[in-house]
Amino acid sequence: MVSTATKIGSFTFDNCLMNAAGVYCMTREELLEIEASAAGSFVTKTGTLNARPGNPEPRYADTLLGSINSMGLPNHGYQYYLDFVTELQNNPDSKPHFLSLVGLSQDETHTILKAVEASDYKGLIELNLSCPNVPGKPQIAYDFETTEAILTEVFTYFTKPLGVKLPPYFDIVHFDQAAAVFNKFPLTFVNCINSIGNGLVIEDETVLIKPKNGFGGIGGDYVKPTALANVHAFYQRLNPSIQIIGTGGVKTGRDAFEHILCGASMVQIGTALHQEGPAIFERITSELKAIMQEKGYETLEDFRGKLNYLA
Ligand code: SIN
Repeated sequence: MVSTATKIGSFTFDNCLMNAAGVYCMTREELLEIEASAAGSFVTKTGTLNARPGNPEPRYADTLLGSINSMGLPNHGYQYYLDFVTELQNNPDSKPHFLSLVGLSQDETHTILKAVEASDYKGLIELNLSCPNVPGKPQIAYDFETTEAILTEVFTYFTKPLGVKLPPYFDIVHFDQAAAVFNKFPLTFVNCINSIGNGLVIEDETVLIKPKNGFGGIGGDYVKPTALANVHAFYQRLNPSIQIIGTGGVKTGRDAFEHILCGASMVQIGTALHQEGPAIFERITSELKAIMQEKGYETLEDFRGKLNYLA
């Protein structure tokens, strides 16, 4: 019997597929649609200390090979999402969830995480260190010193299962340096990758989105090779206790299979979910199961991380 069940930390999921933060996760209604779908879990929109309207519209566009966005972290404030996932966990049929969070400053991040630590929420937390779209705020995880300082402080008070959402890295030395930082901490997971930041898509003579004169995060087909490289680079380098969530360019069962082959324990879907809606989880699950069946794999453990190299 082929199964796509998986585990992250001590949490078991019936299916390894779920949404990526930013897609189908802004409101309770959207999150409930993912909850009711074939997805194994959901992650909330990244919640900040206070609610934010985000950047001016149009701030998302589908393109031939994916998408570009500069949403600017529009959200209802972390408390909205914390209340919702805490409420859901009281339902015995509820899936385990991921609460995505970040502050607009280190102080805000600590304020939020201390509130989550003090709350009744028992699920997973994803600290977003990689949003490329807030004007004047760089992607935190490109600054290794700041990243280490934040995590050092966080783990003086935070005891719940925490992972980090990472931007793509593009250099082997940066994979080494980033992994050396993450290996110092009791992280439950890293999530590779957020969008490739600050791309530019042009139609005729004009940019597609309004914020930042058209610069925005790129997702979809464009990013799959970069996502796979990041998943595998961290799979090779991180302590085995730190699991990998693979995100980027997943729109078929084959794409999900490749993420798992590179080392992912869970696979998130962003652009393709936005384009196809929550029914995508059923389609990709059956495509992934068909590939596993054909290859004689019954569980994800049978092929996770077992990427072949050329001799
Ligand atoms: C955004 O809200 O700008 C997208 C979120 C992200 O890239 O982290």
